[in-house]
Amino acid sequence: MNSPDPRIIVALDFADPAEAMTLVDRLDPGACALKVGKELFVVAGPEPVRRMIDRGFRMFLDLKFHDIPNTVAQACAAATRLGVWMLNVHAAGGRAMLAAARDAVARAAAGSHAPRPWLIAVTVLTSLDGRDLEEVGFAGAAEALTLRLAQLTADCGLDGVVCSAVEAPELRRTLGPRFKLVTPGIRPAGTAADDQSRIATPEQAIANGADYLVIGRAITRAADPAAALARINATLGAGR
Ligand code: C5P
Repeated sequence: MNSPDPRIIVALDFADPAEAMTLVDRLDPGACALKVGKELFVVAGPEPVRRMIDRGFRMFLDLKFHDIPNTVAQACAAATRLGVWMLNVHAAGGRAMLAAARDAVARAAAGSHAPRPWLIAVTVLTSLDGRDLEEVGFAGAAEALTLRLAQLTADCGLDGVVCSAVEAPELRRTLGPRFKLVTPGIRPAGTAADDQSRIATPEQAIANGADYLVIGRAITRAADPAAALARINATLGAGR
């Protein structure tokens, strides 16, 4: 189970860094990566991320940058120097922004003699339906827009996208085997769906072509988070 490349990314959706660290204390960096998002980062800044990296965890900094190219590039460079393993931007920021992010990550990694982090993009937020998209000026179905933005992400040389397990087969077919697919909305069989609507089990997500599974509450709210993680890793097979 202690693989060099864990497929599970545990989402640390906490406002309190002490609470997040208490959970992290119970997890093994060989069994999972960790995701820090806007809430914890706004409250506590980069310090908890540094501590988790120091403990050997691969860190996904989920701040979904979306701004003018120069601003996003600087933010991506700073995240790279922090030593994260994965970071993300919004594909809707456009070609120039995506290219600037890609180049900034490569330069910052080379400059700090660190491995280059995976740079992935968010395509269409899963909270938006067809009407929401029309209201903000996007024509066409969410599925077509997702594919279009994922193709743009690949064309700009980024490493992959965040997508639902439902979208994964078509993205895998269209964008090839090396493009990283990172899927949230994962629920082990028999656990609560909570507020997620299009859910998949970990096995289904992997079978659909996902590389990494973002899992929050099914692990963080379990009575024994390490055991819940071990059970999921076991369903994904030895060696990953
Ligand atoms: O607790 P749960 O497993 O639902 O957490 C899923 C995580 O993935 C949360 O951090 C959530 O913000 C994130 N996420 C998501 N759906 C997306 C993108 C990110 O649930 N489309």
